[in-house]
Amino acid sequence: MATATTHSPKREAFGSRNVFILSAIGSAVGLGNIWRFPYVAYEGGGGAFLIPYLCALLTAGIPLLFFDYAIGHRFRGSTPLAFRRMHRAAEPLGWWQVLICVVIAVYYAVIIAWAAMYTWFSAQLSWGAGNEEAFFFEDFLRSADVAEVGVSAEFVPQVGLPLIAVWLIVIVIMALGVKRGIGRANTILMPLLTLMFAVLVVQALFLPGAMEGLNAFFTPNWEALADPGVWASAYGHIFFSLSVAFGIMVTYSSYLKRKTDLTGSGLVVAFANSGFEILAGIGVFAALGFMAQAQGAEVSGVASSGIGLAFIAFPTIVSQATGGSIIGVLFFGALVFAGVTSLISVIEVIVASLQDKMSWGRVRTTLIVTIPLGVISVALFSTTTALSVLDTADAFVNAFGIMAVAFVAVVVVAWLLHKLPVLEEHLNRRSSFRVGRTWKIAVGVLAPVVLGYLLVTELITKISEPYSGYPVWFVGVFGWGLVIALVVIGVLLSLLPWSRRSHAKDDPDYDEFLVVEEYEPDPETGAVDIPASSRKGARS
Ligand code: ALA
Repeated sequence: MATATTHSPKREAFGSRNVFILSAIGSAVGLGNIWRFPYVAYEGGGGAFLIPYLCALLTAGIPLLFFDYAIGHRFRGSTPLAFRRMHRAAEPLGWWQVLICVVIAVYYAVIIAWAAMYTWFSAQLSWGAGNEEAFFFEDFLRSADVAEVGVSAEFVPQVGLPLIAVWLIVIVIMALGVKRGIGRANTILMPLLTLMFAVLVVQALFLPGAMEGLNAFFTPNWEALADPGVWASAYGHIFFSLSVAFGIMVTYSSYLKRKTDLTGSGLVVAFANSGFEILAGIGVFAALGFMAQAQGAEVSGVASSGIGLAFIAFPTIVSQATGGSIIGVLFFGALVFAGVTSLISVIEVIVASLQDKMSWGRVRTTLIVTIPLGVISVALFSTTTALSVLDTADAFVNAFGIMAVAFVAVVVVAWLLHKLPVLEEHLNRRSSFRVGRTWKIAVGVLAPVVLGYLLVTELITKISEPYSGYPVWFVGVFGWGLVIALVVIGVLLSLLPWSRRSHAKDDPDYDEFLVVEEYEPDPETGAVDIPASSRKGARS
């Protein structure tokens, strides 16, 4: 067996494949599933939306999930390192994904902080019945219009303080490392989240009017399928929801032992994520059905997305339902848990990359990454203009960050570097579910075509009218400026030299990983007969 000749620290690993699967599900199941999916599905034709959704899942979501797993596991590194090992010139693609995570982390934490406060508010019914909207915007966020005040620096303590608490918790989990921090947090939080969510859904199904809500959710509107926008939202949703194309799955799979069934794990993660999403749709619409009935309104009149759904519609349901406080605590508690397990995966992408590039220790890297991120997050989002910044950054980073990098990555890997056969072979080595031509067509042809089309349509829409009616300068800074900066800074980071002690230069583990995998040990003696040409030092 190849022997270790340098003193690079051994790469961290998940305790077992099950912990990896749980952590990957923890990353995928997040705010996107609970507050975004139900409305996207409803808007996109209700029951009929399942068709574009399943198409997006099967033709883009799962194939790209396998693509990420194969890159992270084959090249065994954080995103920039894995791409660099694939080809030196591909390193900027890795940093681009890291920077997308920087943006997501900064605003994602804030929604978790709001949800934490609302868990507490639900127990007390703090908003006062009938006052939910004013309570959220005026009393809680103290929201101000950017067109009138510009970006304000007025600190809102009821948002800032829980936000600081979220960052402190995240810092502790991250500093403990992959096995003791991330793995353990997911092992505790995911079963709790599932239990809370199951109780919530059952409770929602027993509310009067629940069936009307489910009817509204599942009744197919076939006409919606003729609208390209519906297909676009299905594809757009699946990337964020599965945590694909922004480095998370590359990073997590690099912590897997070498003999792992990658595609089998991927299928479990993908179907668990979708199951959760559909369950969330059922729970949310059952609750909305109750709300509509209580107000004598149509379900369509009370259904709203994201922030409106979680922080206005749900508090209204909590006020009106018997046992409403319990529903509120379960719903917002679930948002917190789902959010934290996703946030740590987003931050791990950044921590792992710097750890690889600089060869710093775990605690040092965690502090160097999380303290500035926490400061930016608190500075930008505990002020009165937080909502507009969050909304703009989220919309732009999804379209021109995640979808754009996914497009460029598949084109580069498939068409310029011709690496799909290598990745295919790697996936098939240990996997229960073999991939072949269909996978290569999905990644190399279908994904670039669909993503390219979506990017062009998004570009036209976002150029033709200022996003959400915000001032042009504002969208210029927090929308366009931000997404362009990600690419520029990504290229600059890839030009910085790697630490001399870095894994990229000389990682005994990596070498051993490939060599041993290529040459099976003798089943009886356990010896590995490696041809001289493949031994360490003989590799390029
Ligand atoms: N996949 C995570 C979510 O759905 C980021 O929120």
